[in-house]
Amino acid sequence: MPEHLPLVIITHTLPEEWLAKLKGQCRLVSGPPDADHLAPELEKYLPEAKGFFTLLTIPVSEELLRKAPKLKVVSNMAVGYDNVDVGACTQRCIPVGNTPGVLTEGTADLTIALLLAAARKLPQAGQDARQGRWKTWSPTGWLGTDLNGATLGIIGMGKIGAAVARRAHVFGLRLVYTDTNPKPEIEKAFGATKLPLETLLRESDFVSLHVPLTPETHHLIDAEALQSMKKTAILINAARGPVVESQALFHALSEGWIAAAALDVTDPEPLPIDHPLYALENCLIVPHIGSATRYTRQRMAELACDNLLAGLRGERLPNCVNTEVYQ
Ligand code: GLV
Repeated sequence: MPEHLPLVIITHTLPEEWLAKLKGQCRLVSGPPDADHLAPELEKYLPEAKGFFTLLTIPVSEELLRKAPKLKVVSNMAVGYDNVDVGACTQRCIPVGNTPGVLTEGTADLTIALLLAAARKLPQAGQDARQGRWKTWSPTGWLGTDLNGATLGIIGMGKIGAAVARRAHVFGLRLVYTDTNPKPEIEKAFGATKLPLETLLRESDFVSLHVPLTPETHHLIDAEALQSMKKTAILINAARGPVVESQALFHALSEGWIAAAALDVTDPEPLPIDHPLYALENCLIVPHIGSATRYTRQRMAELACDNLLAGLRGERLPNCVNTEVYQ
C-alpha cells in the first residue's frame, strides 16, 4: 500500500463492497468483525492515523484522541454518536461524522415490528406453538391489544419518530408526541398532537422512544414515569438503552405497573445473559438490530466512507455533528 496515502483505522472488519469508495484513497488497518473495544493490535497505529472509522460500540474518548495527534476525522457508522466525546473532538478541531437518514426507514420498520410483536404476544405465542401448548383454537388464549383506535405516544419526533408516525397512522393509531420543537407538518399529515411528557405517558397505550442519548434524556423513563403510565401500556425502545432506567423497568414489568416492553436497546449492551429482564415473559429483547437490513447497513457504511474521505481531504463532512469546527 503506497506510503503517501493517509492511514485510516477501521475498528471492525466490514464487507469489502461496503468500503469500495475507500479503495486507493487510504491505507486501511482493520479490527475484528465483532469488536466491542479497540483491538489492542490497532493501538500502535493511533500515533500515525489520520482517519478513524468506528461503530457505536467503541468509545472515542479523550484518552484515545490524545494517542492520535494526527487525526483529521472521526467517522461513526451510526446516527447516534453518544459513544464519541464530541466536545474533545471539537477542542482538537476534529470533525465527527454520523449517518442520518439512511437508517430511518429500517429503524421505523423494526419499531413497528416490536410494537406489533408485543401487542400480539408473538414471542409467547410462537414459543407455545413450538412447545406443544397449542391444544385447540383457544377463545381466551394469547389475547393481545388492538392498534386501531389506541394511542401511540412518540417521544422524540425527529426523522425516525416521524417515520414511525407515518406507519402508525396507517394502523389507525391516534398519535401524540413530545419534542423540543412543534412539528406542524406531522400534526397536519397524521393528526398528531404535541403534549407535555407527563400527559403523553398518562394517555398512551403504546409509548415509543426516539430521542438521542444525552444528559437530558438519560433515565428519562424512570420509576416515576413508568408508574404514571397505564397498567395496560406497552413501552418500545429502539433509541438508546440508558434512556430507560433498567432496574425501574424490571419493577414495572414484574409488578404490573405496565403490561409489556419491547426493547431493541438495553442498558448495558449487550444485556448479560443472567439479567433479570430476560426472565420476564412480558419483555421482548432483541440485540440492537434497528438498522440491520442489508441495504441499510451498506448505505450507512457508504455514508461513513463519504464523511471519512471528506475529512481526510480537509473538506466539510456531508454529515457533521460538530459543525463548530468549521467556524
Ligand atoms: C444505531 O443505533 C445508530 O445510532 O445508528
